[in-house]
Amino acid sequence: MTETLTIKTTKTEHSRFAETDFANLPFGKVFTDHMFVADYEDGVWKNLELVPYGPIEMSPAISALHYGQAIFEGLKAYRQPNGDVSVFRADKNFARFNKSATRMAMPTIPEEVFMQGLEALINLDKNWVPDAEDYALYIRPVMFATDPYMGVRPSATYKFVILTTPTGPYFSKPLKVKIESHFTRGADGGVGAAKTAGNYALSMFPTAAAQAEGYDQLIWTDSKEHLYVEESGAANLVFVMDGKVVTPEVRETILDGVTRDTVLTLAKSLGYEVEERRISIQEVLENIENGRLTEAFAVGTAATITQIAEIGYEGKLYTLTDPATRTVSVAIAKKLNDIRFGAAADEFGWNW
Ligand code: COI
Repeated sequence: MTETLTIKTTKTEHSRFAETDFANLPFGKVFTDHMFVADYEDGVWKNLELVPYGPIEMSPAISALHYGQAIFEGLKAYRQPNGDVSVFRADKNFARFNKSATRMAMPTIPEEVFMQGLEALINLDKNWVPDAEDYALYIRPVMFATDPYMGVRPSATYKFVILTTPTGPYFSKPLKVKIESHFTRGADGGVGAAKTAGNYALSMFPTAAAQAEGYDQLIWTDSKEHLYVEESGAANLVFVMDGKVVTPEVRETILDGVTRDTVLTLAKSLGYEVEERRISIQEVLENIENGRLTEAFAVGTAATITQIAEIGYEGKLYTLTDPATRTVSVAIAKKLNDIRFGAAADEFGWNW
């Protein structure tokens, strides 16, 4: 049996709940009243605490700031019809967090610290979980290196924090995306499969350049030849081609997305054939032109299922089918929402 950990709780003296506008919740801007914190020192996780959300004092020399030992996760909690709160597939996010930690030479976190910290935080700030269609409590666990030391070596100390933010959809409209043929997100032997801060840092310059050209996001391609599509922005990428649900196979350059796995599982359960394989840019563009590619969408915890309306490549813009006419991704999204919001049976055991 898992031991119940002692979590010290210091409640806020001024809740911001009453002054929060729940009709206006941009992604990741409004934080709940509390956060969970823990420290890694002398080889163990200690100082497990729930404290008021707010600044953390630290040295400007901490190695996370200089050398980037920082990882995070994203998961969501949903309001159920009976008022309860359900966290979606937390076990998958926990497992991936520790995979990222190992790749970044950081300590793994015990399951009870991650899960009990999460549960205690959500119980304390339960009233913050929105009760509206497409709204959820976004949960952001993060771990970063805290040694105040300039030498390049794995830190001996770390901080683990869980933040929660009530939020609406990340994207508000179908996307116009550019296939990136120079910059790279993940390289063979690199850290593309880890949810580490640097992967997001390196995306900003090329994404901003694409946005200056009128695009919303990039489609990343393989680092060797830029011939194969890999991910879309900070999400995985899925197509419907010849009626099949097709997505790039997970490799060390691609994040093993929880929503990606969920979407593929639901697609199969709805009777669609699913293919996980390499997908060339040429195949995508040809199939847009000959009508065999009928849907394209980005999938992620924040993005959920976001339609892709246009794809640009080397100066040419390809217009896809009208997102309003799409059926496969819409059926998958409906089933996903029904399960997450408790309107359908949780046949896969995903809700906690
Ligand atoms: C998520 O979907 O949870 C992500 O981590 C993407 C985020 C960087 C916006």
